[in-house]
Amino acid sequence: MKSFKDAASQFAGLGGYEVLTTFSCIRCRAVQKKIKTVIMGGPNKGQPLIETTECHCRLSRETAAAAKAAKLKHFKKHWTVNPSIKDATLFNFEGRTEEGKRAFSGVQWFFEKLKDGEKARLVMMGTSGQGKSHLALGAAKYAEQLGKGAIFIEVPTLKQLLQSTFGNDTDLKQIDIFRAFRECDLLVLDDLGSEKEGEWIDEVLFNILNDRLSKPLIITTNLSMNELYQRYHPRMIDRMFEGMGKEDLIKFKSDKSYRMRKFFEDDEDE
Ligand SMILES: Nc1ncnc2c1ncn2[C@@H]1O[C@H](COP(=O)(O)OP(=O)(O)OP(=O)(O)O)[C@@H](O)[C@H]1O
Ligand SMILES: [Mg+2]
Ligand SMILES: [Zn+2]
Repeated sequence: MKSFKDAASQFAGLGGYEVLTTFSCIRCRAVQKKIKTVIMGGPNKGQPLIETTECHCRLSRETAAAAKAAKLKHFKKHWTVNPSIKDATLFNFEGRTEEGKRAFSGVQWFFEKLKDGEKARLVMMGTSGQGKSHLALGAAKYAEQLGKGAIFIEVPTLKQLLQSTFGNDTDLKQIDIFRAFRECDLLVLDDLGSEKEGEWIDEVLFNILNDRLSKPLIITTNLSMNELYQRYHPRMIDRMFEGMGKEDLIKFKSDKSYRMRKFFEDDEDE
């Protein structure tokens, strides 16, 4: 469809439009016109058409919306999500257990801080199948709804992601990925500690955490605090918990995995 401007210039040339009224946008103060034209062709040829000229805010709103969509897409291309949790959101997380409810409140608190621009950091630690990844993925998606560029990464796939090659531009690609990890509004590192051990990956993780000091970060791990210290250098663990309060560490101790819930049906509401 032709834009109003195209149509108006065409009509102006023909002297074919009538200004019905003019008014100023209360926000950008641009003078807008309500104009009556005549449809030039098609089945409605000859019918009157009333249009309003575009003000600056409408255009800047559209530009801002396009920029926001481009930003989210830019970070989204680095996501790695296990298909088994791909549909997880904060809205389909069920607060079945006390631990689950507490964890959900922790995520809510995280977003209070994120929205206020305060240090928002969260570590979810503990037993398997408790919904740590579910909440972490839900949080990344919710951040996007708030217009934040988020990245959700499963740490065990990190090496593969960083080493995936297309021709000779591997280094370049890695630089882009590290930059995205550094610059996104929220980075989620899921399942830290399940990656294959090695000096290279330790260094990569150290650098990622170092780049995100004071920036929004969510980590999930199966490892306990003691196990973290056995596995990683204390300098890395320091960066992992940097700026965090006690309320930002959510521990899961239940041995009842949500994956196994059908076997525990009798006492699931404990
Ligand atoms: N409270 C919940 N409400 C709805 N679904 C849940 C809940 N908790 C877990 N699930 C579902 O159960 C499965 C396992 O949860 P999830 O992968 O988040 O566990 P996890 O704590 O990350 O476990 P692991 O330590 O093994 O990675 C997922 O499919 C998840 O969507
Ligand atoms: Mg998990
Ligand atoms: Zn305006």
